[in-house]
Amino acid sequence: MQTGVSTGTTSGEKPKVAQRIGVPREVFPGEKRVATVPEVVEKLIKLGFAVSVETGAGDAANFSDESYRAVGATVVPDAAQLWASSDIVFKVSVPTAEEVSLMREGGTLIGFIWPAQNPELMQQLTAKKATVLAIDALPRMLSRAQKMDALTSQAGVAGYRAVIEAANAFGRFFNGQITAAGKVPPAKVFIAGAGVAGLAAIGTAAGLGAIVRANDTRAEVADQVVSLGGEFVKVDYEEEGSGGGGYAKVMSEGFQQAQREMYAKQAREVDVIITTALIPGKPAPKLITAEMVQSMKPGSVIVDMAAERGGNCELTEPGQTVVKHGVTIVGYTDLASRLAKQSSTLYATNLFRLAEELCKTKDGVINVNMEDDAIRGLTVTKDGTITWPAPAPKLPAAAPPAAKPAAAPQAKKGHGHGGASEPMAGNKLAIMFGVAALMFWYVGANAPSVFLAHFTVFVLACFVGYMVVWNVTPALHTPLMSVTNAISSIIAIGALVQIAPPLSGTVPPNEAIRWLAVVGIVLTAVNMFGGFAVTQRMLTMFRK
Ligand code: NAI
Repeated sequence: MQTGVSTGTTSGEKPKVAQRIGVPREVFPGEKRVATVPEVVEKLIKLGFAVSVETGAGDAANFSDESYRAVGATVVPDAAQLWASSDIVFKVSVPTAEEVSLMREGGTLIGFIWPAQNPELMQQLTAKKATVLAIDALPRMLSRAQKMDALTSQAGVAGYRAVIEAANAFGRFFNGQITAAGKVPPAKVFIAGAGVAGLAAIGTAAGLGAIVRANDTRAEVADQVVSLGGEFVKVDYEEEGSGGGGYAKVMSEGFQQAQREMYAKQAREVDVIITTALIPGKPAPKLITAEMVQSMKPGSVIVDMAAERGGNCELTEPGQTVVKHGVTIVGYTDLASRLAKQSSTLYATNLFRLAEELCKTKDGVINVNMEDDAIRGLTVTKDGTITWPAPAPKLPAAAPPAAKPAAAPQAKKGHGHGGASEPMAGNKLAIMFGVAALMFWYVGANAPSVFLAHFTVFVLACFVGYMVVWNVTPALHTPLMSVTNAISSIIAIGALVQIAPPLSGTVPPNEAIRWLAVVGIVLTAVNMFGGFAVTQRMLTMFRK
């Protein structure tokens, strides 16, 4: 059953009823965030949805009932009514059993679910015949999914807040100062783990003027650390730390030993440690031992962002701030919620982007399209059937990680001896090459030599273009588009030469070629102006 407003219809069609999105007040203790904010409500209404918000839902994030009403949302007096009247519920925290019991049968729920950790919840949701989109299950490596990536937006806020918490607990300035009252050295901050939260913390601490150092098991983040104003501190042990998908793996005992030695040295030197290290599906690695805490200067601070998953520091107490050996250890598990207005706004935008993907028709009715990789990944139950875990999304081929090439020749050798599918692929490739070679021979033997020269350049250009684009990580396709402006301008010049009036004494190109050149200029212009727009958007991201 749908309870929204009629969106009208074209003649003869059954009128479509717009669906109602409901946003309850979060019930998890201490949760201050809200799943949508007034400026996003307006956009959802433009997409055709009706929006209801439970009274007080935005209070803790500084969004009053009045501000929701002012943009067209209906404010409902209690949770029972909110859940019962909503076709789709937007939530932040994992729903409680009581919330699920309020949910209408066959309804849709979008929010954090963590299906692997919450099997009972999954059973309750299937009993409700619910369709559930777990924002935590988003296939993050799809570049198209970045705008919906709530894990990233919330980790960014949490990383920022971790530095603010550290600055709050630390008794000195972060930046160095020379004043009439004396010289103050800058604080030294060490960040363990340079994923999304770690990088946000590096940027924030560097912005406050601290000397920032960071370490991660994934060597590829070193450049990112430096670009944000930090120094990457390497562990003196060669081992690839990437476990696939941009995530880390559990390191060997030898690496861990070398890492402990390096961390012990940092602990003695720095004033603040912020730990963010996590490994998917595993408890947080213990990186800061009790002895390391003891070796820190009195008044130092540790913010353990991994507290919820057991903590990176042995002495962390999740949810608490404790002082041990004169060191303040902050173990808050709700860092993003402590900056509720910011985190709610970013989260609401992530969910709005998802709503756009679900409602491409802009008529306020969602379509959970299981053929779409991003939507498929998010959907953990569909009409009461568990659809989690989703198969891995089909990614465009990306550059292999640096450590792979060494292993590749060996793997090929193995396949050559006994693999069944490899020779098949090899045969296919040989046939394709054979056909292509025959075609080239035919063209070469019969075409005029002028055509042949152009054709050779064309084939080489296609090959180079293919290799350039397909060897770039999907996440970098946007900046690549801005770089290809240079290539586009060469194409534009070539086409203009064809259109220009012929020089005296030269043969004018025929009409068909001129029109082809016009089409070429139009297509290139789209690419060039698109490139400019992308460049502009990237630059504004870095402007203060
Ligand atoms: P996370 O929260 O699982 O881990 C945080 C960091 O801890 C990671 O950088 C990891 O390498 C590091 N770590 C784990 N064990 C460690 C140890 N023993 N010592 C030191 N560091 C350790 O990861 P997060 O922040 O959610 O994402 C990690 C990466 O995923 C990003 O840096 C990015 O490369 C990738 N990613 C890519 C996206 C995209 O392409 N659209 C979107 C989001 C993330």
